Amino acid sequence: MLILPLFNSDALASQWTIPRVKVAMHTFPDGETRVTILSSVKGEDVYILASLNAPNEKILPLVLVADTLRTQGAASVHLIAPYLAYMRQDKAFHEGEGVSAVYFARLISRYFDTLTTIDPHLHRIHQLNEIYTIPTKVLHASTAIGQWIKDTVENPLIIGPDSESQQWVSEVAAMSGAPYVIADKHRLSDTKVSIQLTIHEDYRGCRPILVDDIIASGKTLLTSVELLKQQGWSRFICIGVHALFSEATAAQFKKAGATLITCDTIQQSTNKISLSQLIAHSFR
Ligand code: R5P
Repeated sequence: MLILPLFNSDALASQWTIPRVKVAMHTFPDGETRVTILSSVKGEDVYILASLNAPNEKILPLVLVADTLRTQGAASVHLIAPYLAYMRQDKAFHEGEGVSAVYFARLISRYFDTLTTIDPHLHRIHQLNEIYTIPTKVLHASTAIGQWIKDTVENPLIIGPDSESQQWVSEVAAMSGAPYVIADKHRLSDTKVSIQLTIHEDYRGCRPILVDDIIASGKTLLTSVELLKQQGWSRFICIGVHALFSEATAAQFKKAGATLITCDTIQQSTNKISLSQLIAHSFR
């Protein structure tokens, strides 16, 4: 077995002892990419480690690497995508729209033997095998997040911002031995959501910990924080598995008085919860 970290994934794999494949990527003046595999991969099972945030710029190089590995004799080529892109357009919401989750799954299934990922956004699609035709493995960050909360926060109350968050929030709460509540969210646009949530007075002494799978525009959690502030809550901690946000968004959390904590599926200064061992254990 060999590992090939791509697109700044080296930090996630830095503690792993699995031998690496070396690759050189050259960009020609016309913008095209040449891939050269610099290690022997003949007969080997090669695992590409690549988080697929900002996916459009990564996909073509990724599939070029996959096919070059096969040309060089790799026995199999697998994808470990800690963050799996294109899971949110899981239905046509309006007339004429495509369902990119399905098309993207078809593309990845064409190039890889298996797919491993962490907490993909499963909402209207309940399992990856509904859209992926290759074997898939889903890992969960909930144990690591629950442990972080248990070790770090006194008297936590876990808050999920929308109905689909119940699946991970309930596990995080069980792991950290904390109660949880789930809000009701309606998305009005890419950057606007409305949230309904009233927390029972019995929880008043607790520290509010908001947990979501993805933080992108940040509006889901920031709107929740603003709502809870109006209800007299403070000392917020916002935890996300996949930190897709910009620095400007991170600054908005700071301004709102919320501590932002993320897992390390994507490189961010807010990463405090490592999932490196979770991925490494999945090999065993
Ligand atoms: C979608 O429903 C997800 O679970 C997240 O709540 C959402 O992707 C967060 O996005 P944003 O930070 O842009 O509100």
